[in-house]
Amino acid sequence: MNSSGQTVHVDLGSRSYEISIDAGNLPRITELTRLWMGRSPNQALRCFVVTDTNVLHPHANAVKLALSDAGAEVQVVCVKAGEASKSLAEASDLYDELVDFRADRKTVVLAVGGGVVGDLAGFVAATYARGLLFVQVPTTLLAMVDSSVGGKTGVNHPKGKNLIGSFYQPAGVLVDTDTMATLPDREYRSGLAEVIKYGVIQDAEFFAYLENNVAGLNERDPAVLNHVVGRCCELKAQVVKEDEHETTGGRAILNYGHTYAHAFEVLAGYGALLHGEAVSIGMVCGSRLAKSLGRIGDDEIQRQVELLKAVHLPVEVSQELQAKPDDILKCMQLDKKTVSGDLKFVLPDRIGHVETIGGIDSKVIVDCLAG
Ligand code: NAD
Ligand code: GLY
Repeated sequence: MNSSGQTVHVDLGSRSYEISIDAGNLPRITELTRLWMGRSPNQALRCFVVTDTNVLHPHANAVKLALSDAGAEVQVVCVKAGEASKSLAEASDLYDELVDFRADRKTVVLAVGGGVVGDLAGFVAATYARGLLFVQVPTTLLAMVDSSVGGKTGVNHPKGKNLIGSFYQPAGVLVDTDTMATLPDREYRSGLAEVIKYGVIQDAEFFAYLENNVAGLNERDPAVLNHVVGRCCELKAQVVKEDEHETTGGRAILNYGHTYAHAFEVLAGYGALLHGEAVSIGMVCGSRLAKSLGRIGDDEIQRQVELLKAVHLPVEVSQELQAKPDDILKCMQLDKKTVSGDLKFVLPDRIGHVETIGGIDSKVIVDCLAG
């Protein structure tokens, strides 16, 4: 595959790191891990690779082979694919494996997989021995453009998603866009919702690029994927640089569409809607809400709807969910981003720019469930 690699810098002072993006990038894992750990080729390298049952073959095995061929000692631990693995019980099993591996501060934890593996392995790396070096190797589009960047790690509590966790930046992120070749279509399209989100919240030119490259997006054209992943990582890096620990509200713009989406995911039953599918519908509701408040016109809604539909994402709230406006409101109130009961929405005032708005009447919020 032609190399059109790029490196995005996440600028966070002493916690800065690189995201290396290319097709066919996996074989560089040893060289880049050594570079990011500050270890020379003649120093020992001990690697603890966490992956899941769908990613083990071929991707985690390829990482293991590349590392061991270069003389590293490698332990691979494979968790069951799926959100249920993001648990304290699974983290505890990984701590046991790390003890058996005699992991110390010179051991690097590598997450090879989607957001579930990245969040779980990152949390374990953050907490074992008060912090092991951590490298992300994301293999879903969502993980490449979102979860592997920015240092949010964690596991779920039975009563809430991502309730246990910490901010812990990786030492580096290696993206091989070729790993998406095995990604199921629905998972790939779910990641595209987050890609489109970046265009709406931060970059009108990127949004137009997506509109002009629908065929490339649908065919997973390598050049289009490379550009898309690179630009999304740059955009997320800007947001994280401004508000690493989510204290100023700047990072909240990443939640465009997510307040509605959270309620849709919960009420449809976890798994019925993939996260990106819920976000797609949530962005449409969010843009209708922006129109109700006089912030945008029909054209801005229509452009989003057309693009989401063109990449085969859902854009309408099901009849079943539309019939439950009170449940939707209740669910939104429980979202941990809600402050003192006042629902906050990230809303566009044009394509490429959003603001966080509160104090919206509940009726206006639920009226936007239907077009
Ligand atoms: P995931 O990790 O469950 O991956 C989706 C599915 O694709 C899984 O079945 C997985 O086994 C499979 N898969 C992964 N890579 C594959 C490949 N290359 N080929 C074939 N199958 C592959 O889900 P996700 O969508 O990547 O991530 C969702 C998780 O990320 C959620 O837990 C969410 O909370 C978290 N998240 C975290 C952040 C953050 O900032 N840390 C941001 C967004 C989402
Ligand atoms: N995915 C939201 C964030 O990283 O803040």
